[in-house]
Amino acid sequence: MNSNDFLSARRARVAALLPLGEAVLVVGAGQPIPLPEGSDQTYAFRSHAEYFYLAGAECAGGVVAFDPGAGWTALVPAVTEGERVWEGRTQAEGTPLAALPAWLAARRGRPVAALGAAVEGVAADTDATTRARMWLTEARRTKDAHELALIRRAAAATAAGFARARECVRAGVTERALQIELEAEFFRHGATRPGYGSIVGSGPNAAVLHFEPSARAARAGEFVLIDAGAEVARYTADVTRTFVVGGAPEAWQRELHAVVLAAERSAIARCVPGAEWKDVHRACAVEMTAGLVAMGVLRGEAAALVEREAHLLFFPHGLGHMVGLGVRDGSGVAPGRVKDTRPMWRTLRMDLPLAAGYVLTVEPGLYFIPALLNDPERRARFRDCVNWPLVERHLAGGGVRIEDDVLITTGTPEVLTAAIPTAP
Ligand code: GLY
Ligand code: MN
Ligand code: MN
Repeated sequence: MNSNDFLSARRARVAALLPLGEAVLVVGAGQPIPLPEGSDQTYAFRSHAEYFYLAGAECAGGVVAFDPGAGWTALVPAVTEGERVWEGRTQAEGTPLAALPAWLAARRGRPVAALGAAVEGVAADTDATTRARMWLTEARRTKDAHELALIRRAAAATAAGFARARECVRAGVTERALQIELEAEFFRHGATRPGYGSIVGSGPNAAVLHFEPSARAARAGEFVLIDAGAEVARYTADVTRTFVVGGAPEAWQRELHAVVLAAERSAIARCVPGAEWKDVHRACAVEMTAGLVAMGVLRGEAAALVEREAHLLFFPHGLGHMVGLGVRDGSGVAPGRVKDTRPMWRTLRMDLPLAAGYVLTVEPGLYFIPALLNDPERRARFRDCVNWPLVERHLAGGGVRIEDDVLITTGTPEVLTAAIPTAP
């Protein structure tokens, strides 16, 4: 396949799936966003993911237009002298963007499904746009060979970074130093950037779900949680490992880590075509709750505790999300579903049946989060089933998350990040 064949095949698949009817499709890349400071600086540019998926390249100001009767048109702005001089840019291939008004005028009166970033002069039809977005997201969920190759490269660079970080975890190392080593190794192994803000939390910071690395130095015997992914050409991995500084966990740390790891392995085994993600999440919540009962943190029967939402004290997030073209990729709900906002489900990033070709994270975690566990309302509600004196002892102890990226197949799921050791 040459580099453009994958794009033709992808566009054909999208065209067959989108229920456009009379409508046409216009997908904008977006424009660089200036920093609020009023200088000439902008945030690093990234095309809208919907545009990138259909254009196959970054192009600020670019537009992909599609009319089922006439096919696909890639419109690109003319490169300016300033861009040539300051950024070394060359003219992107495609139809000049100046042709867009005529393209639209030739289709006057037809609804426009406007995806990606807003495009000047395009009036979106709300219904057509909602429908098109739902079905484009659905199309994006099954990864094509081109995407899978990039995700595998991202996973390999991520593995290199984690190997380096693991070598550096010792008493006295700062979260920032770990981030630097991790990300430098990502770049040395072909990353184009980190896929999201790397999370490095030591001690109590391991219980902050999206902690930004600080100057805090890790102490012997503490947890260090690292959640990071290398990105290659817009495709990212998303991996979490939790280590113990000095490599000699206390009994409760070993048990907590073992509960999360066992739950992760069971959840991955459940990731087969047709499995409902909510069921995989619930089964994992029950398994980890049983682990907390065995540790003496909770009292009662695991399924009944989950029914009462007691697990949310220690596992307050969803089990995972799709990953690839961005760290959330095509997450969300299956066509025709609405998000379930009940407490047990509202933090889930997905509600859909799994299918072969999907790539998703499986990332159970158990944490001692003071913001939840010191809440008087929760303490009263769960007075009978939580061992509060034991919880008090671990309140500054952080938590454990283990996260891998999993390709759903018609057989056993493939763990794309299996090369990254899980040992604490
Ligand atoms: N990488 C952050 C997360 O998925 O939560
Ligand atoms: Mn993550
Ligand atoms: Mn994740």
